[in-house]
Amino acid sequence: LALLIVSQQKDPKPWRDALAGLDGNIELRIWPEIGDPEDITFVLSWLHPSGIFRQFKNLLTISSMGAGVDHLLADESIAPTIKICRLVDINLAKSMAEYLLAAVTSIQQNFLSFHRHQIQQQWQPQPAVAQTTIGIMGLGQLGGFAAKYLQQVGFSISGWSRRPRQIDKIVCFAGMTAFGDFLKSSNILICLLPLTMKTRNILNKQTFAMLPQAAHLINVARGQHLNEQDLLDALDDGQINSATLDVFKQEPLPENHPFWRHENIFITPHISSISNPDSLAPQIIENYYRSQKGEPLLHIVNRAAGY
Ligand SMILES: NC(=O)c1ccc[n+]([C@@H]2O[C@H](COP(=O)([O-])OP(=O)(O)OC[C@H]3O[C@@H](n4cnc5c(N)ncnc54)[C@H](OP(=O)(O)O)[C@@H]3O)[C@@H](O)[C@H]2O)c1
Repeated sequence: LALLIVSQQKDPKPWRDALAGLDGNIELRIWPEIGDPEDITFVLSWLHPSGIFRQFKNLLTISSMGAGVDHLLADESIAPTIKICRLVDINLAKSMAEYLLAAVTSIQQNFLSFHRHQIQQQWQPQPAVAQTTIGIMGLGQLGGFAAKYLQQVGFSISGWSRRPRQIDKIVCFAGMTAFGDFLKSSNILICLLPLTMKTRNILNKQTFAMLPQAAHLINVARGQHLNEQDLLDALDDGQINSATLDVFKQEPLPENHPFWRHENIFITPHISSISNPDSLAPQIIENYYRSQKGEPLLHIVNRAAGY
């Protein structure tokens, strides 16, 4: 039996080393050196070539190498009997919350506009933004943690989820019927939703129109949540004041993309929260053995809900 690591984008070797360092009994293989395909019962995967899992007749479980599973659920060739799980880690949630604290504080302190002034050698004092409500789309492992973290710093926070949630000192909204009420008080809108059929392109013209005038957008979820042209239009007409973007439809962001040179867009290269092999290896090994024994997996994905 073997555990196969498939990753076209992240370096698979630190994952193999972290797993091997904890448990020398598991046979580890790195795609495309798969050996006998019938040995593969468990796959750890990130952005695999679609369709490759069909050859593994004894495959029981696929674990994402990160928090998101949209890359796996997009592959319709994965049989419904194969279980899909994902990685959940307090360190992922902490680094996301720290990124968001930096982003919202920069917005509040007008750092993007001071940076523009610096390039033009302009001395132009501007007061910090006084009253800010942060609206967080998605109150799961990452969004829920960030909501509490930012609230403790003193921000006023509201959150939106699919099912009703109760979080101390956070104003919680749930479902499409409450979406407008959630948006209308969100001066800074943060997207931390999973990418599903229901959430694709959710950051669009209609959504922006429901925000307060000159709101700020932070997208740290997936590029496919955002309608890029709608954002450019909303920035042009002032409905959106600035956008902080960590994720893009195409990554790396193409050289000629209009986002690069937009003065009200701040870009980071998908770094807001990076899975750490050493911190996550115990969880992967635990799921490997649970999968072999037919026991319930940790952080299993609801394939019908899409996350
Ligand atoms: N930029 C990066 O580096 C990076 C790193 C890690 C993850 N991510 C992204 O962050 C996403 C969220 O991760 P997570 O671990 O926090 O996910 P999670 O624990 O599954 O939480 C997802 C949240 O979104 C809500 N949601 C799902 N569908 C919804 C809908 N149709 N309407 C309203 N709310 C909906 C869920 O509602 P319920 O509470 O009702 O279930 C839940 O609160 C990942 O899927 C990934 O795409 C990005």
